[in-house]
Amino acid sequence: MKRPYAQFVATGRSVPSKVLTNHDFSKMGLETSHEWIFERTGIAERHVAGDGETTCGMASAAARVAMERANVNAGEIDVIILSTATPDRLLPSTAVDIQAQLGATRASAFDLSAACSGWLYGLAVGEGLILNGTAETVLVIAAEKMSAIVDWTDRSTCVLFGDGAGAAILQKSKHGRGILSSFMRSDGTLAELLYRPAGGATLPMSEAVLTDRGHLVKMAGREVFKAAVRSMSDAADRALDGAKLTGNDIDMMIPHQANVRIIEATAKHAGIPMDKVYVNVDRYGNTSSASIPIALDEALERGQIGPGATVLMVTFGAGFTWASMVVRF
Ligand code: UT7
Repeated sequence: MKRPYAQFVATGRSVPSKVLTNHDFSKMGLETSHEWIFERTGIAERHVAGDGETTCGMASAAARVAMERANVNAGEIDVIILSTATPDRLLPSTAVDIQAQLGATRASAFDLSAACSGWLYGLAVGEGLILNGTAETVLVIAAEKMSAIVDWTDRSTCVLFGDGAGAAILQKSKHGRGILSSFMRSDGTLAELLYRPAGGATLPMSEAVLTDRGHLVKMAGREVFKAAVRSMSDAADRALDGAKLTGNDIDMMIPHQANVRIIEATAKHAGIPMDKVYVNVDRYGNTSSASIPIALDEALERGQIGPGATVLMVTFGAGFTWASMVVRF
């Protein structure tokens, strides 16, 4: 008899309607060009939140799409996990706002902080809760309003990021479908290569912090790039080994969408041809932990992932954190 798995019942996504192209940055007076951004990253445009658009709003919208497709109503959800680096406020969690918005009266809700890796971390937690019998239905969301925390005067970071949300509903399956393997790792010795130095409890918000822009994202791009290739390649190997599969067995790879050159290097390492790699970084930029669920939802909607398909998801982000997962749909 096959062991039980935590399976994806449905997914959803929501991105703001406002689009910022690479050309718009030059018009805003930033010393950059479409050519520089596109050649180095593969990004052409990204969606950014407009007035009144919040992390909770994008997350709830993505969740509602997934719930409708899964035919799951709010009262059936046991746990809501929100991965975000951009909570709407610091206390309490944004997940409880989502719980209230959805009317998920039976659910427990909490935020999970693992930067770009957060959605895969959240899926692994959700899988554990399902397999140990704590929960039957888990809603795992990633929502990011990166436009609120990037430094719009720093051309080396602000051109990279975008806003959006994606969600999945997990339930138990006995039909050999679901999460076959997962892998997570962190290295906090490298935290200051990609971080927000101030605005937390150690250096609370002050006039000096605001003047120095210490509450905004700082990144050592080159170092992060090298670590991303190394860690995502390793993570791909680990999830494939865990599922006793090789790159040849993968029907679609859904990588974290930070930079097309990082994606190509990871795919090459895993032996997966680029026509089996889903890429949408050109249209969304780096939406941090929302990038994989947005890409997965698009690939499912377009029929590029069908029933029985084996999918490798792999990610890397601030922390550093990295993670991977093999899923049979
Ligand atoms: O989610 C995971 C986290 N993030 C990532 O995965 C990002 C990883 N890093 C990268 O993708 C790349 O390092 C970047 C795209 C951020 C930068 O590419 P790079 O090839 O590593 O460029 P660089 O930072 O070494 O900068 C090269 C030059 C510099 O000028 P000089 O010193 O050579 O005169 C920069 O000042 O490019 C300059 N530059 C820009 N020029 C035009 C930096 N940003 C820009 C810009 N437009 N937007």
